[in-house]
Amino acid sequence: MHRTRNKAVPGEGPHDAAIFFIGEAPGRAEDLEGRPFVGRAGGVLDELLSGIGLERDRVFIGNVVKCRPTDSRGRDRRPTEGEIRACSPYLDRQLELIRPKVICPLGNTATRYALGKHGLTASRISELHGRIIRAGGVLLLPMYHPSAALYRARLRATMREDFERLRGIISGLGMAGGGRA
Ligand code: URA
Repeated sequence: MHRTRNKAVPGEGPHDAAIFFIGEAPGRAEDLEGRPFVGRAGGVLDELLSGIGLERDRVFIGNVVKCRPTDSRGRDRRPTEGEIRACSPYLDRQLELIRPKVICPLGNTATRYALGKHGLTASRISELHGRIIRAGGVLLLPMYHPSAALYRARLRATMREDFERLRGIISGLGMAGGGRA
């Protein structure tokens, strides 16, 4: 994917962020800017974050793969298992260095990665979203991918509820505003 990308999208946020969001892969807007979630799905994510009073620059936002996967016509596609295997060591290392307290995988690809890392098998995001899973000293809170709200408007309310769970975790950990406790 590095051959067809414009910019790699390593992710962004404080090195000591308590909350780490994991998306799937950069899309067109992200590939042009080199930053995660700056396109339409990013608009949904920004709205959900501000809905619970969490500033974007207080959380880390990354992706399972760091370059935009495209098909032969230059359209977005899902990363393959091989691409995920090749690229996810970068995310592994980011998680090791940042040591967040809460990981929110967004969508099926990121949820499979995050649960798989802890030896857990992920069912579909439609079953797992909004559930708090304790694994190896960290809380996992899978959520729908923000882009899902772009084609299924009714999911937005469900996503707001899941973000309210995150708000609850944040206040339970005494992390007003999402900073390090
Ligand atoms: N979708 C993702 O999964 N990640 C991004 O950075 C943008 C859109």
